[in-house]
Amino acid sequence: MNNPLAEGQQSRLTEPCSLVIFGATGDLTSRKIVPALYNLLKDGQLPSLFTCIGFARRPKTHNEFRAEMKEAVSKYSRTKPIEDSIWNHFQDHLFYHQSEFHEDEGYAKLKILLEQFDTKYGTKGNRVFYLATQPVSFPVICEKLHKAGLIYDQKKTKDQKSDKWSRVIIEKPFGHDLTSAHQLQDELLKFLSEKQIYRIDHYLGKETVQNLLVFRFANSIFESLWNNQHIDHVQITVAEDIGIGTRGKFFENAGLLRDMIQNHTMQLLSLVAMEPPVSLEADAIRDQKVKALEAIRPLKVEEVVRGQYGPGLVNGQDVIGYRQEQDVNSQSNIETYLALKLFIDNPRWFGVPFYLRAGKRLPKKTTEIAVIFKDAPGILFQNGNRKNPPNILVIRIQPDEGSSLKINCKVPGPTNTMQPVKMDFRYGSYFGTTPPEAYERLICDCIVGDSTLFAREDEVFNSWKLLTPLLDNWAKNPPKELPNYPAGSWGPKAADQLIEADGRKWRLI
Ligand code: BG6
Repeated sequence: MNNPLAEGQQSRLTEPCSLVIFGATGDLTSRKIVPALYNLLKDGQLPSLFTCIGFARRPKTHNEFRAEMKEAVSKYSRTKPIEDSIWNHFQDHLFYHQSEFHEDEGYAKLKILLEQFDTKYGTKGNRVFYLATQPVSFPVICEKLHKAGLIYDQKKTKDQKSDKWSRVIIEKPFGHDLTSAHQLQDELLKFLSEKQIYRIDHYLGKETVQNLLVFRFANSIFESLWNNQHIDHVQITVAEDIGIGTRGKFFENAGLLRDMIQNHTMQLLSLVAMEPPVSLEADAIRDQKVKALEAIRPLKVEEVVRGQYGPGLVNGQDVIGYRQEQDVNSQSNIETYLALKLFIDNPRWFGVPFYLRAGKRLPKKTTEIAVIFKDAPGILFQNGNRKNPPNILVIRIQPDEGSSLKINCKVPGPTNTMQPVKMDFRYGSYFGTTPPEAYERLICDCIVGDSTLFAREDEVFNSWKLLTPLLDNWAKNPPKELPNYPAGSWGPKAADQLIEADGRKWRLI
């Protein structure tokens, strides 16, 4: 495949390979994975010797699949309109393979196909298998890939780079509680080594999330204040205005805790709270993230608020409540909102509360981390309650990616009147470009063999370890009053009470 490398773009050393997408007729493939591959090619980040094979159950010709994917890319690509010359390059290397996930024959045929591509397109036996399927299919797919000889025993290869390789990308959720996550891991380890497993949490692929490390560890002014001496509390908000759409079946089994908290929110938390790593090596970073997670004090059930949206108004539109959504039980107790308070018991964070909230059908889509610094005494610049408004650092993960710092400033004029003002940095206006989609970065990292931005097994286990007791408690104690917030509001009243009981408030976003 020709690489029309965009000017000024840095390309990474990717080796030739074939990427097989399991669940190729699903939403994720058309909305995220294939548009990401198209943009990687456009930016010159795909290997020049590359093929992509969609693997799914429905019968389809190569051309039908290509036409569907072209439509998807036209609709969902971050760059529009689709460029025909790039698309044509891409589709010449895009194929479809029909099989059930449990059918040996389908894998045997896949192997033949891949070997033909190695000869014809020079993909050198290197493979990425992307499991974009229901989690229940993960073990069987790995078992069959292994049986067909499509997963190489990486343990035998001293230097991975010197031999052909096979890697597996696994979508979330990884298990539905601590026990099932361990079971899944045990199953996978029968066929794969940990180094071959790339557990995706797409939040880690977001530019602004990656920037958290640079922000913290390359700016001495922040890092020196990043502790309980100077920080009063931290608020992490992951808000969405959308409801659950057509994902009723999935959400009835998952709920918001499994969908957003266990993975995305905990990843943000661990990056904010971790100690500096000794290097930027994947394991050095992940070791520190795990340590931060391990130091979280067990949660108190009374410090967790769950909510579910009822009918309401979002962006001026009437919307139905969760219980009226397609494939949802009309008496469902599943949570679509969660707020909680937690503490990290280590020297850096002892005594600093972290307030986390996430929910569907809130007034707007926004993900941000707000670090609220301790008040400066208001002795010099008289303020009614002898406190000055706190400095607040806000890292906007999305949308409107950037960061702002609220500082107090003298209002021009003869008196010492003070007013908080905001210093604001915006990615879009500063760099004049939209950041690449998270999936672009992550797929490229997997091809390069860099697992830094993927969740390691102990990160996943520690997150489940913290949250599973809560799930167990909820299973025994169904909530009494759901729905408890109207769509389009900022969540249940109890979430306000949770933070207000400590004399603090959720930020108005
Ligand atoms: C997914 C969740 O992992 O993340 C969805 O399953 C959620 O429920 C989505 O809507 C949010 O991702 P983003 O990138 O739009 O914030």
